[in-house]
Amino acid sequence: MRRLWGTLGIGLLAFAMGATASAQPPIQQPWMDSSLSADARADLLQAQMSQDEQLLLLKGYYGANVKMTWIKQAPPELRPLLPGSAGYVPGIERLGIPALHETDAGVGIANTNWMRPGDTATAFPAGIMNAATWDPDLIFAGGAAIGAEARDRGFNVVLDGGLNLTREPRSGRTFEYAGEDPLLAGTIVGEQIRGIQSQHVISTTKHFALNDEEIGRTVLRASIDETPARESDLLAFEIAIEHGNPGAVMCSYNRYNTVYACENDFLLNHVLKHDWGYPGWVLSDWGGVHSTVAAANGGLDQESASGFDRQEFFGDPLKKAIADGSVLPARLHDMAHRILRTMFSNGLMDFPMPPHKPSTHTDVAERSAEEGIVLLKNEQSILPLGRSVKTIAIIGGHANVGMLSGGGSSQVVPLGYNSDNDVYVGGPVHILPNGTRIMPLGREIYDPPSPLAAIASETPQAKLEYIEGNDLADVARRAAHADVVIVFAEQWMTEGEDVRSLSLGGRQDELISAISAANPHTIVVLETGGPVLMPWLDKVPAVLETWFSGSGGATALAHILFGDVNPSGKLPVTFPKSEAQLPRPTLTEIDQSYAPFDVAYSEGADVGYRWFEKQNIKPQFPFGFGLSYTTFSLNQLSATGGDTIVATVNLTNTGTREGAETVQLYATPPTPGSVARLIGWNKVSLKPGESRIVTITGEARSLADFDSSAELWRVRAGAYSASIGTSALDIAASTPVTLAARELKP
Ligand code: BGC
Repeated sequence: MRRLWGTLGIGLLAFAMGATASAQPPIQQPWMDSSLSADARADLLQAQMSQDEQLLLLKGYYGANVKMTWIKQAPPELRPLLPGSAGYVPGIERLGIPALHETDAGVGIANTNWMRPGDTATAFPAGIMNAATWDPDLIFAGGAAIGAEARDRGFNVVLDGGLNLTREPRSGRTFEYAGEDPLLAGTIVGEQIRGIQSQHVISTTKHFALNDEEIGRTVLRASIDETPARESDLLAFEIAIEHGNPGAVMCSYNRYNTVYACENDFLLNHVLKHDWGYPGWVLSDWGGVHSTVAAANGGLDQESASGFDRQEFFGDPLKKAIADGSVLPARLHDMAHRILRTMFSNGLMDFPMPPHKPSTHTDVAERSAEEGIVLLKNEQSILPLGRSVKTIAIIGGHANVGMLSGGGSSQVVPLGYNSDNDVYVGGPVHILPNGTRIMPLGREIYDPPSPLAAIASETPQAKLEYIEGNDLADVARRAAHADVVIVFAEQWMTEGEDVRSLSLGGRQDELISAISAANPHTIVVLETGGPVLMPWLDKVPAVLETWFSGSGGATALAHILFGDVNPSGKLPVTFPKSEAQLPRPTLTEIDQSYAPFDVAYSEGADVGYRWFEKQNIKPQFPFGFGLSYTTFSLNQLSATGGDTIVATVNLTNTGTREGAETVQLYATPPTPGSVARLIGWNKVSLKPGESRIVTITGEARSLADFDSSAELWRVRAGAYSASIGTSALDIAASTPVTLAARELKP
């Protein structure tokens, strides 16, 4: 380990020192007066900047010295400064402006392709698992931990905050995002961003907007009208931005209707900057820029990793566009201003980067995993397992190695990693002469510790047998003799690809059926990035969804299996019975020529559970669903109207264990054809027998309709149905509530 850090140290030290030096400017720099507003400080600084210096801020470079044929490398003089990460924007030393060191951090500090050999980090639960906690405070703490891990590794921009809605559960990045509901996703991701930024680093939110599937993401035209877009994907961003105030917004690869997101005047200028009054900057996704003038005038402020684009569009081409008047100088000023004011407001100028001393946060990661695991089935209370269990067969899913993680730019090299944690599906690792390992996107990393080890430490007296699970007959024979069988079933997902089907791959369905036929005490542990189909569900007594759970995942699972922790996770996404139930039963395939293609999101704002209600079809597991080892009752619902719905209900823990229930408030507007929408929730922990009055105030925009001709939200006057429940389908009580007509600014 020490040897590896030696290799890493040189680069990191160089940029950490640069940041420290630039953050201690001579005292006569008036913009360093922290009593002034961020905007005033940016103005003072900009007044000293030449046009070339401002242009410098608007163009980034790929942050790693990795040669790839299709990426233009940073100029040689910058290469020693590159942080070994996703992105780098040079600083301006004479003015004390630090460089921007950008790291991906969707599930912890990413280290895709081992760009920084030896730099492992805490793998946090994936975004979908964060959403499954329904616990904004916990996710804030997780965000603060990610922010701290970024900062003490020398990064001041965190490319996190992914929240594209799950319109397409087969999307390869479903695991990175926060599910299908705009209020839940926006709140959870917004709190994570707020946590990250509490550490004097900048966070993004991404991918703005409607990058809801991966295959052909750079040529896909997401086709959806303004009103449904405002009520779904855009509402999720609106809420996240209000909660988290991210310094930057990353525009996406796809087109929104006919125009690329990174030059989309409607999305960037009209919605984001005008309607939402967003003061931060818009940076492009890597390779997401297609023009100079249209992008600059369309609202893009910074070209990220310019070498990823077909050609560099900012820098000299932008300078020329300003000279010939096609981009106005005022726009250049605005672009640079947005970046600088955000650097001030997030403390990049005032809080020098600390010495390089990477921290780890497995405690928070473990707590989030404990709260995010969802108990989907538990017949005859087979779980939790008693300490008297003598023999446990643990089968499949590389359960002797670790917990599965998702692939792509968010890939963390987890704490405790060694080569056993890698399972390659995409060919061998390529090792450069300097020792850098180039890993294909098609690799699966299992985050240690292994569930086998975690279960062994929970129940040291039991005899555990790990069986790989390739030979079905042999597995069934061996499983038959165990007191309990735990089968690990998995579905790997990665950025840049979609899973072609929601079925578990290989022969996993057959394996589970064979084992459950041999041993009725079979528990299925799912490690998936999103919903999967479960044709064997009736045959097994218990199912746990553990998502991609990170460094704390195995321990959290063991705690839940043995009842040290009572499960409290709830699905942030509907699990369908079959793909035929989805709005688009088959994925749109891209043709070999990579020609642009449309995906019509004809379900509009009725994403996920709203689609299922509208079609009157019953999913396998509804949105919001999750069991506990205790039971709860909800009664005495009352609700008041007026401006919004405020519901009060009495929650009682009617079982014998302490546990948490997430009380969910849904409302159905009086408009014909409307279906129920989540408008609020409250997660409450109660001791056995304890009761609490729970009050939930509805988020008005979630029950409003967006009026695109008047450009505002309208809460319709009339009688709404307010329902309180423990999932979208487990409704304990409903009551009519009258609301007054109301208009809200977007
Ligand atoms: C991804 C972004 C990521 C960027 C930098 C892109 O391919 O879409 O989410 O932040 O790469 O790694």
